[in-house]
Amino acid sequence: MAQVSAPQPKQVRFAGLGPGFWPVTAVLTALSIAFALWILYAPLDAILPGESHEVTDRAADVDALFKFMSVFGGAIFFYVSGYVVYFALVFRHRAGEATDVVGVQVHDSPRLEFWWTLIPALLLIVLSWLSINVWYKIQFGTTAPALTMEVVGHQFSFEYRYPGLKGSIYSTTDAMHLPIGRSVRILITSADVIHQFWAPEIRLKASAVPGLVQNLNFTPTAPGTFDIECTEFCGIDHSLMTGKLVIESSDAFDRWLASEKLKVAAAPATIDFAKGDAAAGRQVFTQKCSACHALAPFSQRVVGPGLLHITDDPAHPKLVDGKPPTPENIGEILQNGFSGPIGSMPNRTANGLSNTAIADLVAYLVSLK
Ligand code: CUA
Repeated sequence: MAQVSAPQPKQVRFAGLGPGFWPVTAVLTALSIAFALWILYAPLDAILPGESHEVTDRAADVDALFKFMSVFGGAIFFYVSGYVVYFALVFRHRAGEATDVVGVQVHDSPRLEFWWTLIPALLLIVLSWLSINVWYKIQFGTTAPALTMEVVGHQFSFEYRYPGLKGSIYSTTDAMHLPIGRSVRILITSADVIHQFWAPEIRLKASAVPGLVQNLNFTPTAPGTFDIECTEFCGIDHSLMTGKLVIESSDAFDRWLASEKLKVAAAPATIDFAKGDAAAGRQVFTQKCSACHALAPFSQRVVGPGLLHITDDPAHPKLVDGKPPTPENIGEILQNGFSGPIGSMPNRTANGLSNTAIADLVAYLVSLK
């Protein structure tokens, strides 16, 4: 039986790796080392958002992971792309050469295969170990939490709930406060659609999913005021769904929480529509309603209908629940919410409106004629 052998190359230009291979390797090694030193010693805020220092213990863990990946990822980038360029230049086709000339063909090199399997495998094992370690600390914390609070996503705002803040105002959408030095557990969920809670400086994010409670555990270590963003497209005003995170000293946090509790205690037990303040109601509207409702006729819907003529629209003489547009009936929708063919309006568990805020808001809506 005739042996079929592979066609032999007409010409082999270099017996080895090519001229200049080792000097090029030295340059790529120098670039990798320089990049690694920059990643390890330059302030991270050149590439990541925030201060030049981490603001939580977990942010420090995440940054360490980021540095580990950048150092090895940088080296892989320099060697791979450097050799691609080098070999493309050295083994390029030259004038006068046969068109089917090829370089040295390397087959069955167990030593080479051993190392190119072992090195990436070890890197992946170490990276997995480090990542799982950080993930475990994020999920379960390193100690029992000293403060457990809740973040609830709504279209289109974040609501922050704190222990002891119960009653008509049991939560706030103004800003999320966290104390330095206390281990914090944040429970994250959503009241409507899927949102994503993200504060870049704390380096953590979690999906806010209806019916599912997610955990983030960390201890704040440095003060500051930072942005919170929703990073999951959740509807027409997704881009407006932002918040503020205030990290402050333990004492300042306690003072803030005490003042919020005083507000709860001072809140009237019933809604007094006669005391509604339209100017204050206008601010409430901007903060809580304007993401979904325009100051426009009923038909100009954003998410819900326009509210400009809620009490004097001849085309819609009644509210969406079929009742006459009295302050009490408008207040009832703000408290209990409403679901109908045109959509769902959240109730006060979701909108977090106090009795005072509802009276002010109704006064403002009634004043729009
Ligand atoms: Cu909530 Cu995007």
